[in-house]
Amino acid sequence: MIEQDFIPKPYKELPNNGAVSYQSPSNIALVKYWGKHGEQLPENASISFTLSNCNTQTELSFEAKSGTEFEFEVYLDGNKEIGFEPKIRSFFERVEQYLPFLRKYMFVIKTSNSFPHSSGIASSASGMSALALCLLEMERSMTEGGLADDYFNKKASFLARLGSGSASRSIEGPLVVWGNHPDIAESTNLYGVNFDGAVHENFTNYQDTILLVDKGEKQVSSTVGHNLMHNHPYAQQRFSTANENLSKLIAILENGDLSSFIEVVESEALQLHAMMMSSMPYFILMKPNTLEIINRIWAYRKTTKSKVCFTLDAGANVHVLYPNSEKDAVLTFIESELAPFCKNGEFISDQAGFGAIKL
Ligand code: DP6
Repeated sequence: MIEQDFIPKPYKELPNNGAVSYQSPSNIALVKYWGKHGEQLPENASISFTLSNCNTQTELSFEAKSGTEFEFEVYLDGNKEIGFEPKIRSFFERVEQYLPFLRKYMFVIKTSNSFPHSSGIASSASGMSALALCLLEMERSMTEGGLADDYFNKKASFLARLGSGSASRSIEGPLVVWGNHPDIAESTNLYGVNFDGAVHENFTNYQDTILLVDKGEKQVSSTVGHNLMHNHPYAQQRFSTANENLSKLIAILENGDLSSFIEVVESEALQLHAMMMSSMPYFILMKPNTLEIINRIWAYRKTTKSKVCFTLDAGANVHVLYPNSEKDAVLTFIESELAPFCKNGEFISDQAGFGAIKL
């Protein structure tokens, strides 16, 4: 599909008012998106596990209005949140041609996250995908004959991408690819697609325990970080390595080789942070406890032959990934050895999930 396929035909009747709600999950990338061009187009393909427990619930209510401005209010946990307005305004501007009813309504967006506020967990993926889904659900109700599910998922991901790149991977699950990749026929820079290759049972219900190392605001936003990949000395090498890592991962997902899985996933996490450390200006998002946790995971793996591994987002928190078969043992290890390095001993247990749901 191309951009034009997402420009809707004239609507039947526009409702006067109404409300729609979605719950949309966060996701954790195994091969990372870091670097973009044009209008939210990734420099390399990425793949993620969709999460399950970490999600955003958004209710969008709408009332027909006159005038030609965008009008909306945003509430987080019941409190008006003007801090979100600029991001939503630029999202509305970017998606307007694909949702031409946006200026015709006054919107009230009420949102809440399942994970603690300011936990440092990226809420843009779950938040932007939930909002995109609500808006598209509105469109579905205005469209003669509705919208087919496949088209709906693609357009929801396409819109979510225009809000935040990683949000394009939060519509479906458990594994979603975003970005053109020669080994994945349906893959595209425009939206995320469910990974449809063979997946070994080792990866069923894969566990992700998120260790909350630092709950403060990030010093450098992802958007600034992506921009620093322009003129980055290692950019081209990084983009081609990411695409190669995705090729390796396709084979690993099929054969279930967890040792090779660990190698790709940990290397991706460290390369992401290596890009931050080698950009100009340079920056470091890991904290001493991030490194302490990584070293303890490595030591545990050495003594137990466990297949536990880590990955990182653009922050200090550590995502501990492990097969469902090791759930009890690894949780015991986390509680006794890793939790002491988390802020207030806090961590969130999650696992691969199946995407957004309409409420
Ligand atoms: C490090 O999707 O937050 O989590 O497109 O500017 O909103 P924007 O960036 P964002 O970038 C997230 C990057 C990452 C890796 C990943 O999720 O692939």
